[in-house]
Amino acid sequence: MARTLITGGTVVEATGSVPADVLVEGERIAAVGAPGVLAGAAPGADRVLDATGKLVVPGGVDVHTHMQMPVGEVSSADSFATGTTAAAWGGVTTIVDFATQQAGEDVRASLEARLAEAEGQCAVDYGLHQIVGGVDQSALAALGDLADEGVTSIKLFMAYPGRLYSDDGQILRALQAARELGLMAMVHAENGLAIDVLRAQALARGEGAPVHHSLTRPSVLEGEAAHRAIALAEVAGDVPLYIVHMSASEALAEVAAARDAGRNVFAETCPQYLYLTVEDTLARPGDEGAAFVCSPPIRSAHDVHDHRADLWRGLRTDDLAVVSTDHCPFCRKDKEGRADFAAVPNGLGAVEHRMELLWQGVVAGHLSPERWVETCSTTPARLFGLHPRKGTLAPGADADVLVWDPAGRTRLGIGGKHHSAADHSAWEGVEVAGKVDTVLSRGTVVVEGDRFTGRVGHGRYLRRDRSSLLR
Ligand code: URP
Ligand code: ZN
Ligand code: ZN
Ligand code: ZN
Repeated sequence: MARTLITGGTVVEATGSVPADVLVEGERIAAVGAPGVLAGAAPGADRVLDATGKLVVPGGVDVHTHMQMPVGEVSSADSFATGTTAAAWGGVTTIVDFATQQAGEDVRASLEARLAEAEGQCAVDYGLHQIVGGVDQSALAALGDLADEGVTSIKLFMAYPGRLYSDDGQILRALQAARELGLMAMVHAENGLAIDVLRAQALARGEGAPVHHSLTRPSVLEGEAAHRAIALAEVAGDVPLYIVHMSASEALAEVAAARDAGRNVFAETCPQYLYLTVEDTLARPGDEGAAFVCSPPIRSAHDVHDHRADLWRGLRTDDLAVVSTDHCPFCRKDKEGRADFAAVPNGLGAVEHRMELLWQGVVAGHLSPERWVETCSTTPARLFGLHPRKGTLAPGADADVLVWDPAGRTRLGIGGKHHSAADHSAWEGVEVAGKVDTVLSRGTVVVEGDRFTGRVGHGRYLRRDRSSLLR
């Protein structure tokens, strides 16, 4: 078994930081020990990685990505191969993507098709959630087999009427089934029917520019949907509820109230909601703004709420448990030249940059380094049945390791570090403190300095356990 010793660094876990060496044997962490001790106990390591001055942290876990996702006639820009390679470049060693069942389709068939698409195509380990876009008797019956396939979470949509949308009755039935089966229930919480009205009215007024994408999805309709999802989850026996890609202060307040009341409610946000504003993105002239269409939308800096400040606070206080990316970039040709904002495929990319971008929260004093690890690796692993295999450097865990150089700098975007297949970046020209130094996936060095040494096909399918919350 190949042995790798990572020496001289500071090991940062969610629970604390300590100067320590890490011994990797084969695909697993064998030991974490005081500096110098393991070198004596384990002479003849095949490889020694010098992490002096660097942080040694569990590889990132991004539980919300959409690789090669079809939307109408187009598809998100990253294949499993390019998207997971970009993930590796960003210190992310696990992604959880989605299988999608739509109305009238077979759940099982949608999962098998998605597993087949990903098989042999990933550079890092991957799991799947099951989207249920057509809640009916046969879809509900099929949920009983998911856990056997290692899929222990379902995702429901209160947005996108006519596509993936479920009405409240369907949401309640699916939440009851999730409760019964011990599955985590993820919800895209926006009031899709109300948004459709606002959207049709805006288009009728000739307001088709990208900025209207945000104006027709007001934050209050994200808060309202979050409230409803939380209420329905309570009625369904307090099924653990996970609200995805939170962008709005109003929604965060609903989560905070539910958590204060002792409810099993969790939420994630994404880098775009922590950093970007309408003024800097969607409001750019013409098609430049179209590049930033995603849902929920990027919010205005001049709203009644300071959404970004509230989201940072939520991350600090644990009302927001996780940072994911909702990685779903589209190439320019697919975003641009559309009749109006409503015809632009939704989504941005960030899978490569989540660790880099969130580190800026550490630099700015919003988060501790431990909280950075917790929100980007440990908690997502715990919530989605991957811990302690992922999200920790404890002995026995998969040797998924990010060696992070806090003294380095990284320039993001096409003009800098960019490995997504998308031909543009929401992060163009952004320069951040810190740098991905070395990345190991199950004991194999996959990124070393400015070289990718991994391999498409190295990544394995992760059969996830039930969330540790449910055991
Ligand atoms: O705009 C987004 N988020 N696109 C991806 C699909 C979704 O709603 O998560
Ligand atoms: Zn969504
Ligand atoms: Zn309010
Ligand atoms: Zn998504």
